Amino acid sequence: MRTGRRAWIYVSLALTALPLAGIQARQDKANELYLESCASCHGANFEGGLGGNLADGQWKHGSADSDISRVISQGLPNLGMPSFEKTLSAEQIRSLVVYLREKEKETASQTSPPPRPTEGDVVKSLEHDYKVETVIKEGLRTPWSLAFLPDGRQLVTERPGALRMVDPTLLPEPISGTPQVVELGQGGMLDVIPSPDFAKDGWIYLAFADPLDGEKKSAMLKIVRGRIRDQAWTDEEVIFQAAPDFYSPAGHHFGTRMAFDSGYLYFIVGERGGMMEAQDITRPNGKIFRVFPDGRIPEDNPFAAQKNAIPGIWSYGHRNPQGLAIDPRDHSLYATEHGPRGGDEFNIIRKGANYGWPVISYGMNYDGTPLTGLTEKPGMEQPLAQWTPSIAACGLACYTGDKFPNWKHDFFAGGLRGELHRIRIQNGKAISDEIILSGLGRIRDVRNGPDGYLYIVLNQPDCIVRLVPAK
Ligand code: HEC
Repeated sequence: MRTGRRAWIYVSLALTALPLAGIQARQDKANELYLESCASCHGANFEGGLGGNLADGQWKHGSADSDISRVISQGLPNLGMPSFEKTLSAEQIRSLVVYLREKEKETASQTSPPPRPTEGDVVKSLEHDYKVETVIKEGLRTPWSLAFLPDGRQLVTERPGALRMVDPTLLPEPISGTPQVVELGQGGMLDVIPSPDFAKDGWIYLAFADPLDGEKKSAMLKIVRGRIRDQAWTDEEVIFQAAPDFYSPAGHHFGTRMAFDSGYLYFIVGERGGMMEAQDITRPNGKIFRVFPDGRIPEDNPFAAQKNAIPGIWSYGHRNPQGLAIDPRDHSLYATEHGPRGGDEFNIIRKGANYGWPVISYGMNYDGTPLTGLTEKPGMEQPLAQWTPSIAACGLACYTGDKFPNWKHDFFAGGLRGELHRIRIQNGKAISDEIILSGLGRIRDVRNGPDGYLYIVLNQPDCIVRLVPAK
């Protein structure tokens, strides 16, 4: 395994070095590139001039990403737009497209801002008018996940480490004896869901950043199940734990979410900053797993029979998905994934498929330098939808309630930037994406309530709200 990994590092360096060897290895930031090459004709503030406004959402020569990058690359010779094919690399052109998309969205959010409801307001949206109701206003610290038990009680995780049973609006002391977690960067106590047979078996599943040997300097995602008896966590069993080699001091990209379907448990492990490790099926990072509810590995998992592969892997090439939901109509699995700066993804997750990170991506690096010029590649999946600029996708639910009939089976994707998106899937395609609300706080989780309302877990302010029909 050791030699195997060394060989892989060699390959991954070769892969990342190749595209840069093309035109120039310059790593200019997109804003600098823009000022240098574009602002003279399109204005320092994108307001136009000889070249026209690039931030008003009006694209005369095509509005798809591919149209914009084609115009930049090939120019519009008859109109005076120069070709940048010879001076800018594919990576740089992609970073400019991301940058223009950011500016376009900034303008749009000023001219036609998405709804920013306050409690009690009737908010209009395309299919339904709704109101926001606060369910838990105070007392939570960085709530991360919400789950409903069959009797109506709610479980809430808080990232610093607590699991609480809420009954139904009273906030009791945390459950005692839950696993120790590392609250490191994005890590901590993360997802919670009950077993689909909870009424019979009483199991509750927890996903969290686990300290290596109690040592808080190194962590990895771990999943356990246990029961709650007299406000205490008992009967704990390990469902997923990575080998110590895979623990890392990185404080980011733990994932995660869990979802049950048809006798399987699906869960996400983020790439932990390992980037190319997401492409390596001998490592758990950057993967979605499928296991039996007791942690055993199904024999028909795509890589179960492959030597050295991690047998629980269901799909790979993921960066940091933090939304996972099943469409009960056909049992398809969907995930939302944080891209870098730009390129957040909404994917349908297929057995054995490669989602491409970091070889293909619609995003650029956080500092505005290019990441990859490739947004697609044979053998790698395309997202059903992608968000550039990023919404910081977190929390996903397929609406199954009956209080909002026209929303039935639409997907609700939250984001840490505060937007809640409603996505409609038809014949395997995302046919619409509506921003339902924004500005309430950072959206961590979105869940169906047993009452048919849509529940949203917020950070800053730390609270839980729900959407109820306006009338
Ligand atoms: C020498 C002037 C000039 C420079 C420099 C220039 N452009 Fe242009 N650009 C134009 C002109 C002229 C048009 C065509 C405007 C029209 O159709 O009315 C154009 C059109 C475009 C379009 C298509 C807009 C649409 O409505 O579809 C994009 C995108 C674009 N430019 C991006 C860039 C970027 C990015 C850069 C820098 C890398 C750049 N341009 C540099 C002159 C320029």
